Amino acid sequence: MRILGIETSCDDTGAAVVEDGRILSNIVAAQDIHLEYGGVVPELASRAHITLLPRVVQQALDTAQVTVDQIEAVAATVGPGLVGSLLVGIEFAKGFALARGIPWVGVNHVEAHLVSAGLEADLQAPYVGMVASGGHTEIYHVPEPGVFRRVGSTRDDAAGEAFDKIGKLLGLPYPAGPHLDRLAREGRADAIPLPRARLKGDTLDLSMSGLKTAAKLFLEREPRPIPDPRIRDIAASVEKAIVDVLVERLGQALSRFEARAVTVAGGCACNTLLREETARLAAARGIPARFPSPKLCRDNGAMIAHAGSLAIQRGQTTPFSATAIANLDSFSLLPV
Ligand code: KG4
Ligand code: ZN
Repeated sequence: MRILGIETSCDDTGAAVVEDGRILSNIVAAQDIHLEYGGVVPELASRAHITLLPRVVQQALDTAQVTVDQIEAVAATVGPGLVGSLLVGIEFAKGFALARGIPWVGVNHVEAHLVSAGLEADLQAPYVGMVASGGHTEIYHVPEPGVFRRVGSTRDDAAGEAFDKIGKLLGLPYPAGPHLDRLAREGRADAIPLPRARLKGDTLDLSMSGLKTAAKLFLEREPRPIPDPRIRDIAASVEKAIVDVLVERLGQALSRFEARAVTVAGGCACNTLLREETARLAAARGIPARFPSPKLCRDNGAMIAHAGSLAIQRGQTTPFSATAIANLDSFSLLPV
């Protein structure tokens, strides 16, 4: 099946054509209008999607060398995300599908991250997956195709927020995650003692706020500008503290649930140490670790197309009455 995937849940405008699990094109236009505000401005994001989406879709069709008539289904993100932004992609997808007389399928954004590694490598249920990005840090068990059970999530900041906020205190540009990663490669991870939150009880939830506060207090005492070898040590220590918390929870999830693979997706899945430690965890259990390539880690249309075609294969399409759900928490994502 040749499917068009549309992603407009936040500030990236994405469109992709995927044919039988093969990516023919995957175009993402980032919206730099938000940079001067230091965060995403929802109204500006929706307006930018309206301008960008038709062009991004055309580029996706051109790159894939397919015409509108050769598209057999359309998928778009229905949530979670910014309502105004989601609506742009959803209504475009519905209009496209109605005009062509083809099915449309509304996709849960988190579910799309979870299955995204399956575009590049074998990823079969049962598996355990983590989505770690600027907006999400959640662990899922996928016991069978199409069933996504959230088994843990952050109680406060997302992992990406922790990288970005601590990185900002270090004077790094936004988003700080990739810069911190680069600095950390040449630093000593045991240079600075930082806490790893231990939540009470039998939970796979996690917390980043204690670490963030500790890093803030610690950094207030550092002379400015922080000299070179020192900043690398701090970056490595911060990265290790964040990754330790994530990987400990992943390990606990793997002990609790049947899994023949583990996957980590979302922007933070680009992190070098997170990949290394997750790969080590998986190797110790004799299962593969699957990470999407960097282009598929960030928000993109290909993962939406892929999740959409998996849903269609399971016999799920979406009625035209369905629309955006900002805090979408269900769909095929089932709570435990
Ligand atoms: O999925 P994503 O592109 O978008 C949103 O969450 O909206 O994730 C972006 C997040 C940012 O917080 C960024 O700092 C983080 O992913 N990130 C990284 C790395 N690359 C991106 N964090 C740590 N190490 C990286 N290499
Ligand atoms: Zn995302």
